[in-house]
Amino acid sequence: MARMLSGIKPTGQLHLGNYIGALKHFVEYQDEYDMFTFIANLHCITVPQDPQELQKNLHDCVALYLACGLDPKRSTIFLQTDVKEHAQLGYIMCCHTYMGELNRMTQFKDKQAKGETNLSGGLYTYPALMAADILLYDPDYVPVGEDQKQHVELTRDVAERMNHRYGDLFKVPEPLIAKVGARIMSLSDPDRKMSKSDETNKGCIYLLDPLNAARKKIMSAKTDSLGVVHYDPENQPGISNLMQILSSLSNDRPFAEIEQEFAGKGYGDFKRAVADAVCATLEQIQNRYAEICASDLIETTLKEGAERASVLAAEKLSKVQKAIGMEIL
Ligand code: TYM
Repeated sequence: MARMLSGIKPTGQLHLGNYIGALKHFVEYQDEYDMFTFIANLHCITVPQDPQELQKNLHDCVALYLACGLDPKRSTIFLQTDVKEHAQLGYIMCCHTYMGELNRMTQFKDKQAKGETNLSGGLYTYPALMAADILLYDPDYVPVGEDQKQHVELTRDVAERMNHRYGDLFKVPEPLIAKVGARIMSLSDPDRKMSKSDETNKGCIYLLDPLNAARKKIMSAKTDSLGVVHYDPENQPGISNLMQILSSLSNDRPFAEIEQEFAGKGYGDFKRAVADAVCATLEQIQNRYAEICASDLIETTLKEGAERASVLAAEKLSKVQKAIGMEIL
């Protein structure tokens, strides 16, 4: 069975972009693949965090993984710091990644361009840690949203470099990016991606948003004055974004079918349909979330997941350290 691995960095609450671009696919793939998913808590601290808030976000992230349908019997679900090899291999990866490569990573460049000061060394080197997260488990595929593609490509480059230098150490994985929904945009500014760091809070729907708040965000999403429900990301980015959301929440319904349904109707009707689809999804997730929080499933899932992941991670780290010449016995 081919293997898949992916993770989410809960620097804040998970949002609809995380769900549509990543989490939904983890769930869909778990029967077909040997699925590894983790909570990337080492990546969280690359930017300043309030400890209590971080702890709550980590808890909610696991609960939401489960609430969205990840099943600990069919997937290996773990917390990154419960498997110490991530940090260890992360350092080794860092030593095999060139500064020129890290300088080209758009996420760091974007933050720098915004004039943010006191950016941490961890933020700069985090793609090397991400390479370790992946390569520890030899996955065939890494399902991610479009913004992470560059990091998976760097992972491939570093894996190939190390395989060339030390012999066959790692499987070189492929990024897996969905055709629809790999880049959900902000509702209030559809030229920017939906992200946890949305200052206004109007452009981002969180998975734990009250349903009336989520509905309101959709109904006031920025659109255009053309008045036609048509998929054209360049000229109608707001409407096209809402079409992506609707399509991916209704079994990848073709855009042509959506256009047909709303031909001659106003944006109000269309937005109501999107809001209904979003609220139905959130309601199901939130009901399950409440049940999970009241159970001991989080604890048992993380314990069993870390045990399973640790076996593979320890084996890989030891193989790498031996190949590099770092072990004595
Ligand atoms: P993160 O936490 O920023 O995002 C988690 C996943 O959600 C996807 N995503 C989106 N997809 C569509 N539209 C959006 N607006 C949107 N925003 C986020 C991301 O592409 C991602 O798939 N570095 C990673 C976490 C990570 C990881 C890994 C992932 C750490 N190690 C190893 C895969 C494999 C990150 O910060 O994702």
